[in-house]
Amino acid sequence: MTAHRVEPGGPLRGRIRVPGDKSISHRVLMLAALADGMSTIRGLSDGEDVRCTLRIVEALGAEVGRTDDGGLAIRGGNLGPADCSLDVGNSGTGIRLLAGLLSGMDFRSVLDGDESIRRRPMGRVLDPLRAMGAPVEGSGDGSLAPLTVGGGGLSGIEYRLPVASAQVKGCVLFAGLSADGPTTVVEDRLSRAHTEELMAATGIDVARTGEGGLERTTVHPGRPTPFEHDVAGDPSQAAFWAVAASIVPGSEVSVGNVYQGPARTGFVDVLRRMGAEVSHAPDSGDLLVRSADLVGTVVAAEEVPGLVDEVPILAVAAACADGETTFEGVGELRVKESDRLATVESELGRMGVDVHAEDDRLVVRGRPGGAGLRGAHVDAHHDHRIAMSCAVAGLVADGPTTVDGWDAVATSYPGFAEHLAALRGADGGAG
Ligand code: S3P
Repeated sequence: MTAHRVEPGGPLRGRIRVPGDKSISHRVLMLAALADGMSTIRGLSDGEDVRCTLRIVEALGAEVGRTDDGGLAIRGGNLGPADCSLDVGNSGTGIRLLAGLLSGMDFRSVLDGDESIRRRPMGRVLDPLRAMGAPVEGSGDGSLAPLTVGGGGLSGIEYRLPVASAQVKGCVLFAGLSADGPTTVVEDRLSRAHTEELMAATGIDVARTGEGGLERTTVHPGRPTPFEHDVAGDPSQAAFWAVAASIVPGSEVSVGNVYQGPARTGFVDVLRRMGAEVSHAPDSGDLLVRSADLVGTVVAAEEVPGLVDEVPILAVAAACADGETTFEGVGELRVKESDRLATVESELGRMGVDVHAEDDRLVVRGRPGGAGLRGAHVDAHHDHRIAMSCAVAGLVADGPTTVDGWDAVATSYPGFAEHLAALRGADGGAG
């Protein structure tokens, strides 16, 4: 396990590009694997989660090569059984989407992952897949990975999501591509819309309607046509720089080409409400941030699907704000890569933040400018977003912070420390 040390220090300045969006990257790989012919993908996430999905589509028979300009060329359309179990690593998105895609295939596959994946709830995808007639099997009490999926013969269903989850929506829509008729997913509140956006862009008959306060997405069976896709920058990674530049006085940062579609940029609205100077440049799509004095806010449960991965880093912003910030309805954070309500409470707590998790709420009592934040020895708990959130908090602490388990960052953002050093200029500051 590696440790990483962050020194507090001066302003962050400059422009960086974050990795390609992780959610989009998983989905374009899966669509390319299904498309009969050659697809080209540029700007794919370089994180370990997406590398696992790439290895899996290759193991299933997709031919993967490089384009002259460093992109990825994938010839799909001819998937067959792999000769071993498919390892998603740490990726909940990988395992849940692939469970849907592979359920529709006429061969069986075993999907497995690391210890964290083996603890995370899979019943939420096994239930709708069973309702479609898929012979899926879980382990343990029947709802855990490893999962055995595949066999085809799926029926189209209408499924109302019991939890707001783009992974479950994506799973059902991917299975719907191999069903015998249309499949509809009903959501109380729109979760990230990458599956349906990318399916539509690759020629699949999929449509979303809003009726009676519900979002309905219907997909018809079919296969994508081969495509070219440039993956936009990941807003969830941009959020670390948005908060870092907001809280470190004198900072001015732009983050290049960030995805701005539905249910991904809720953190920008929350930061603005807190007084942050953050905006999207109308021409370039860059996210522009300047340091500002922050005040506390209430993040309502309805907002959570649009910022679900950004709560840990928003808690860091809240720690540096004047007054209390409450995150309502954030119970889903308990079943992420770590129990993020517990790990935010324990690790930011070690750094002197007044933060408490109660059932499905998180309450942070901030101090202007992060006064009282102390450098500490913290633990990532195998969770990339906890590691990076603590590193950002360390920028305004009163001494060095050491993050144990820093290797978790490679899951989504292997270049985070280099980007931090670049934004801090020649003196670096991050060891
Ligand atoms: C994702 C959906 C979200 C998010 C995850 C990526 C996706 O998970 O937390 O990082 O790509 O569909 P849930 O579907 O569990 O909310």
